[in-house]
Amino acid sequence: MREIGIGLIGCGIVGSGTAALLTDNADLIASRVGAKLVVRRIAVRDLSKIREVSIPAELFTTNVDDVISDPDIDIIAELVGGVDPAKAWIEAAFAAKKQVVTANKELMAKHGHALVQIAQENKLDFYAEGSVAGGIPIIAAMGESLAANRIQAVMGIVNGTTNFILSKMADEGASFDDVLREAQALGYAEADPTADVDAHDARYKIAILASIGFGTPVDESSVISEGIRTITARDIAVAKDLDHVIKLVAVAEQWEDQGTMHVRVHPALLHKDHPLASVNGAYNAVLVRGDGVGDTMFYGRGAGSLPTGSAVVGDLIAVSRNLVSGSTGRVHRPANANLRMLPRELVKSKFYVRMTAKDLPKVLSQVSNVFGDFDVSIESVIQRANNKDEAEIVLITHKCLEESFRGAVDVAERLPVVTGVHNWIRVEA
Ligand code: HSE
Repeated sequence: MREIGIGLIGCGIVGSGTAALLTDNADLIASRVGAKLVVRRIAVRDLSKIREVSIPAELFTTNVDDVISDPDIDIIAELVGGVDPAKAWIEAAFAAKKQVVTANKELMAKHGHALVQIAQENKLDFYAEGSVAGGIPIIAAMGESLAANRIQAVMGIVNGTTNFILSKMADEGASFDDVLREAQALGYAEADPTADVDAHDARYKIAILASIGFGTPVDESSVISEGIRTITARDIAVAKDLDHVIKLVAVAEQWEDQGTMHVRVHPALLHKDHPLASVNGAYNAVLVRGDGVGDTMFYGRGAGSLPTGSAVVGDLIAVSRNLVSGSTGRVHRPANANLRMLPRELVKSKFYVRMTAKDLPKVLSQVSNVFGDFDVSIESVIQRANNKDEAEIVLITHKCLEESFRGAVDVAERLPVVTGVHNWIRVEA
C-alpha cells in the first residue's frame, strides 16, 4: 500500500494527540485513505521531555529543517502555535512543495489569508481545522458542507476556559477571582489566563470563522473583544432571575446588501432557551446560519489532546486523499467579498444594566427619562428595595446604538439619586 509521509512540528498537547490517533487508528485510517499515513519525523524543542505517547526516539529532531526538507515527507503538521517562527516554517514548507496542516489560531487569524494565497498559487493543500473549537469540525462544515449557502451569521462559545469559569460561577454563586484560582489549580486555566479571560483566544477564532464564512479577510485587531473579568456573581444571579445565563459569545454577522459585517466577542445574556445557553463547562458550540440551510449548530470539545488531535488527523486524512487522487489545492477559498467592518458605534444591541439608587419617589422615572433622552427604549425594568434605603434597578433595553446606550449610562451615573452603575452587558436575542 502507498505510504504518505507525515512530519510533525511540535509534540505538545496537540502533537501528542495527533501522534496517538495516527498510531492507534493506523489501520482504520489506511483503509479510509487507501494509503498508510506514516509519521517520519517530529521536530521538538526538548528531546529529553517525557511524552505521553510512545514514539520511537529516532523520529525526534530539534532541527525543524529535518522535517521541512525531508523528501519522504508529503504533509507537515505545524502544531507549535504563535506567529513566530511558525509562519516562517509554513512558508518554508510551501516553498519545499509540502502540503500543510496547522492548528494555529493566532497565525490563521493574523496571516491566514496570505498563507491560503500561497497554498492556492502552488496548488498545495493548507488545512486548519484544529485552529478553531478543537475537535468540532466547523471549518470543514463551513468551507465545504455548507458551501452552497451565503453564511449570514456565526455565533459561538469558542473558549472552553471562560465557559468553564462562567458555568462554575453560575453553579456555585462564586466570584470570578475564586473560580479562576480554582480552575488554575485544577489545570483548566493557564497560570497566565489573559489569552482566555480577556478574549484574545476567542477573537482569533471568530476572526477565522468570519473570514471563511464571509469570504472576506477579517482584520482580527478590529474585532471588538471584551473578556469576562467584570462579570460578577450578582450579575449571574440577576440574569438567572430574568431566565437568562451569561456566556462569552463570539458573533459575526454580515449584511451583504450593505457591504458590511460586524465581528465581536463579549459576555452576553442569553435567554435560557437559546441554543447556546445550555452549553456548559469546557464545551464549545458554534451556530451557523446559512441562507439555504437555516440554523445549524455544532457542539463538542473545544480543546484537549485527542479532540484537537482528531481535527488535525482529519485534515491529514483529507490531504492524503487529495494526494492519492492527485487533487491537492482543490478547495478554493476565495476572499473577494470585501465586506467593510461596521464600526461599533453603528452596531445595535440590546443591553442589560444594573445600578443602585436611593429608594425615593420618582427615582425610576428620572432614570428612565435619561434613557429616553438618548433615544434608548426600555424593554423591561426590575426594581427591588434592598436593605440600605437603596433599590437595585435592572433595565433591559430594546435594540439601540451602543453610543446612545453608553451616553445614557454616563448621564444616569451622575444623577444625584443614583448610587452606582455596577455593570452593563449586551443581551443577545
Ligand atoms: N485555551 C482555549 C480554550 C483552548 O480555553 O478554549 C485552545 O484554543
